[in-house]
Amino acid sequence: MRLDKLIEKQLQTSRKQMKRLFLSGKVRVDGQTELRENRNVDSKLHEIVVSGERLVTEEHYFLMNKPAGIVTANHDHQHQTVIDLLAPADRVPGIYSVGRLDRDTTGLVLLTNNGPLGFDLLHPTRKVSKVYEALVNELVTEADVLAFAQGIVFTGGEACQPAKLVPLWYDDKNGYSQVQLTIAEGKFHQVKKMFLARGKKVVALKRIALGPLNLPADLPVGGYRPLSLAELGSLKPYFLS
Ligand code: URA
Repeated sequence: MRLDKLIEKQLQTSRKQMKRLFLSGKVRVDGQTELRENRNVDSKLHEIVVSGERLVTEEHYFLMNKPAGIVTANHDHQHQTVIDLLAPADRVPGIYSVGRLDRDTTGLVLLTNNGPLGFDLLHPTRKVSKVYEALVNELVTEADVLAFAQGIVFTGGEACQPAKLVPLWYDDKNGYSQVQLTIAEGKFHQVKKMFLARGKKVVALKRIALGPLNLPADLPVGGYRPLSLAELGSLKPYFLS
């Protein structure tokens, strides 16, 4: 959470008192004087000491294996949301999904009430990789691999960054290909539109990784669990603001 909000909440300071603590060098993170009031911190990752007192955050981070049919939004009038899949005790204030998957897409979703983390993790300049497995309704060829590597241009002209497409297998009975695709951006319906630009259709899509986080093999569809300390530690470089 933001350091200024943490100080105000835990030390019950006014805004003015909080600012004074920064200006007088009383705020230290990992042993260094911190001047950025909006710095994103988590006490599981950072040592936060203000006027000699150690502060503790209560941030929540969950990895979910999203089923098809569920929307990645906080509220929806028609469909169940990823928030609805959380136990009531885990629906903490401010919880949201970092990025979105389409309703029919399955796989890894990160949920947190750490607002700045989602912003930093998904900021286009960070180029955080997202890895998908897709089932495509045709043979995926070396020409497709090359086109993805060169940067797909959507019908309409929008250009994508180079992406790594790896054909995994081809089922010649139904003509479907299974592929793995790594992209470093998050345009709306990006994977489906990339294949459409090649005249092919994605019939099933699953996200298996987001930056350093991988979809755990033992996490059942519809299930979720808190991030391990190691997984949270892998996100530390994204605590940027
Ligand atoms: N690309 C898509 O087309 N859909 C998703 O859900 C995610 C990436």
